[in-house]
Parts: sequence; structure tokens; C-alpha cells
Amino acid sequence: MKIAVFVSGRGSNLKAILDSSDLKNLIEIVCVVSDKTDCQAFQIAASYNIKTITVGNKEYMISFSELIKLLTELKTELIVLAGFLKLIPAEFISFFESKIINIHPALLPSFGGKGMYGLNVHKAVFDSSAKVSGTTVHFVDASYDTGKIISQSCVNINDVNSPEEIAERVLKLEHKILPEVIKAFAEGKIKKVNNRVIIS
Ligand code: GRF
Repeated sequence: MKIAVFVSGRGSNLKAILDSSDLKNLIEIVCVVSDKTDCQAFQIAASYNIKTITVGNKEYMISFSELIKLLTELKTELIVLAGFLKLIPAEFISFFESKIINIHPALLPSFGGKGMYGLNVHKAVFDSSAKVSGTTVHFVDASYDTGKIISQSCVNINDVNSPEEIAERVLKLEHKILPEVIKAFAEGKIKKVNNRVIIS
């Protein structure tokens, strides 16, 4: 299965996908797309000889409509948002309907929505005094963090002393769950039953 990974920063989830032995013979990352020209994730992509593309409004970037063409030419079957911060236009989302997934560092539908990214999420979880947190992989629809949930994984945070500690625990889960969902996708195991998404 040919996939495109969209990133804006560190790229640790990209690295987890690239290093997953379960995915080795199942997927090919055809390109890594970012709204930032110099992010750590691009360095990771370059070290694996993967094509990088920048999308946005600046003259040296391509537009989302050009990106649709490019991803189609590359025969992209799945788009994985792994820390991509730019809002994706509705036209792009409807073109790739049911083919875009996102990983979020909390248990949706709580702690999601506009502004809920990076450490902001873990600060909100910490301040709420929640006893568990976790990660969610979901389909992407036209608004932030509201698409159907594909998979979740949770961790006890009863004893944490800072949002950073929550982030660290959740990131470990992310690196496990994202390759698992991609594998299920590649194997055709993700289905809709009774208006719910299940992994069969
Ligand atoms: C992750 O926490 C992910 O859940 C969120 O953005 C972060 C990206 O981290 N959407 P990285 O760039 O993969 O290290």
C-alpha cells in the first residue's frame, strides 16, 4: 500500500512507521508532506531517501489542489497525518474521503479541537486531573479531531507530576498504535459496521 505522511515537526511517528518491521513488506511511503520547509521530520525523510513536498501559500510551496494531482500520480492509497498542524481544505478531504487518518495525543472526543496540539493537549489533561490519558487514531473529516475513531490506547496517569510526563507516556503508545492501524488498513481489516469503525 502506498502512503503519504503529513508532518510539521519532530517526526517521531514517521520514524516509528519507517522502523516498524510489521510494515516493511506491506507499505511504501511515497512522500512526506509538510507545511514547514525545515522540520526535523524532513531530515528523517531525507535520510530514508523519501521524496519531500512542502504545501502552503508561499511561492516556493505547492497548493493543496496541486497536491491532490501529485498524490494521485503517486497512486497514494492512504494519507497519514502525524503531527500535521495546518488545516486541510474541505476539497482535499472530500477527494480522499475515508483515506485520511490522524493521530491525536489524547482520548477523543475529549481534549481535541482547535488549538489542541502539542503540549497544550497534555496541559489540559493535567489540569483536568484526569486519571487516564492516551492516544486516538481517527478518520479525518472537515473539522478538527471529530472524525470516526478507529483505535485508541490508554495509560494510567494517576501519579504524574507534569504535562511533560503525560506526553512521554502517551508518545510511547502512539508509536505502537499508529503502525498497528496502518497495518490493519493495508490488510483491509478496517470496516464500518453499524455506523461504527471496527478493526476485524
Ligand atoms: C504527536 O503527539 C501526535 O499525536 C500529534 O502531533 C505529535 C507529532 O509528533 N498529532 P511527532 O512529530 O510524530 O514526533
